[in-house]
Amino acid sequence: MADKTEITVDEFISAIDDVKAYLLFLQSIGCDGVDCLSENVNKVAGWKMGGIKKRDSLEKISDDLTGCMRCGLGAFRKNIVFGEGSCSAELMFVGEGPGSEEDKTGVPFVGLSGKLLTKIISAMNFTRESVYICNIVKCRPENNRNPLPEEMKICMPYLKRQIQVIKPKVICTLGAVAAKALLQTTKPISNLRGHFCDYNGIKVMPTFHPAYLLRNQEKKALVWDDMKKIMKYLKT
Ligand code: URA
Repeated sequence: MADKTEITVDEFISAIDDVKAYLLFLQSIGCDGVDCLSENVNKVAGWKMGGIKKRDSLEKISDDLTGCMRCGLGAFRKNIVFGEGSCSAELMFVGEGPGSEEDKTGVPFVGLSGKLLTKIISAMNFTRESVYICNIVKCRPENNRNPLPEEMKICMPYLKRQIQVIKPKVICTLGAVAAKALLQTTKPISNLRGHFCDYNGIKVMPTFHPAYLLRNQEKKALVWDDMKKIMKYLKT
């Protein structure tokens, strides 16, 4: 259970602002004593400086994953594929998990489907550096199988923290696995794609995975429709 005395840096700053405003108020009504209401004193006495949570960062999340063996994927991976791009990206792409090229290099979407994703990103007038690209699981499932529910559950907190730090305006999930895992739905990708969904107040656009597009070129137009919706929304 969370320690009730633990407060975040933002809450701490806001509390200091409250104290400042209150002291100014007391001064304005001519008071020069100290507020000893037990309700207030107890609240402040409960704050533990050691309990203030440091602001999260991509570096910290990546550090927390160093040497990760929380699930079975750790035993077979060459590299953890954490993610790459801008820490303040407006647009985030989330795939399902690294493939063999990604495992070798530690960089997401650098294999064949990655090259297609890079083309899509350029066609949207972005660069790989200006968006953020990552996956639901950070280690390669062997033989490119889908990640198991347990593996996704164990890795999900790190993706959630990445999203919380980056605060993108839009998340584009690539493929059924990523959409279902992030949106916690069992709806098929054919129903989900092309419609904005919600993840904690952030717009999510599920679309087809680039690997699927490589096998089904005729679906490219549908994905481009989805990207146009994203571009339109990003302009608002
Ligand atoms: N497919 C994915 O889902 N992610 C990658 O990083 C590469 C291929």
